[in-house]
Amino acid sequence: MDKQHKISILKGYIEDCNKCDISKIVTNKVAGKGSLNASILVIGIGPGCQEDIEGECFVGPSGKLLTDSLENIGFDIEDIYFTNLVSCRPTSDTIKDRDPTQSEITNCKLRLWTEIKTISPKYIIALGELVSQTLLKTEEGIGRLIGSVHDRVWPEIEQIKIFCVYHPSFVLRKPKSKDIWTEQLRSIYDIINKRTNS
Ligand code: URA
Repeated sequence: MDKQHKISILKGYIEDCNKCDISKIVTNKVAGKGSLNASILVIGIGPGCQEDIEGECFVGPSGKLLTDSLENIGFDIEDIYFTNLVSCRPTSDTIKDRDPTQSEITNCKLRLWTEIKTISPKYIIALGELVSQTLLKTEEGIGRLIGSVHDRVWPEIEQIKIFCVYHPSFVLRKPKSKDIWTEQLRSIYDIINKRTNS
C-alpha cells in the first residue's frame, strides 16, 4: 500500500475516532499535512482555536510563527510533514487551550505512530516539553533536552534523530525567547545540512 493510501485511511480513522471526550466537542479533527516524502517531521501538541475551525494544523498564530521562522532560516517547507501529539483541540470549560492529558495522548498514540511509520522521516523536531518528553520517554526538562541530537529507535523503522525546541506558543508568550528559539532552529538546520560537525 502506498503512503498516500495509508494516510487517507488514517484520515478516515481520525474522523471516526471518538475515544476521548474532546473528540465530541471539536469543530474539526485535525490530521497532519505536508509532503509524504518529507525527511523532517515536525510534531506539535495539538490543534488550537484556528486549527479547530479550519481543520488544518499549524494555521494559527503559533503555526504562522513556526512556518515563517523555518522558511526564513532556509528550511524547505516542501520537505516537512507537520502533525500533532493529539488530533483534537484539547480544551475544557475553564481552560480554552490546555495540554492534552496522558490518557488523550495515549488514545492518539496509534494514530501518531502510524503517521511516523508512514512518513518515515530521518528527523523529528519536537515542539516544547510535553512533545519532547513523550517522544523520548523521559521526564527531563526541556532545557536539558534542547541542544542535543537524540537517537530514537522504534521497531520497524530506521533510526530517527530527534531535536527538541521551545514550542512556538511559548515564544509568542515570551517574545524575548525568540532569538534563542531561532538559534535552536538554525542549529538544527545546520546539523541537517551538515554545516557543523555535531
Ligand atoms: N498548531 C498546531 O497544529 N499545533 C501546535 O502545537 C501549535 C499550533
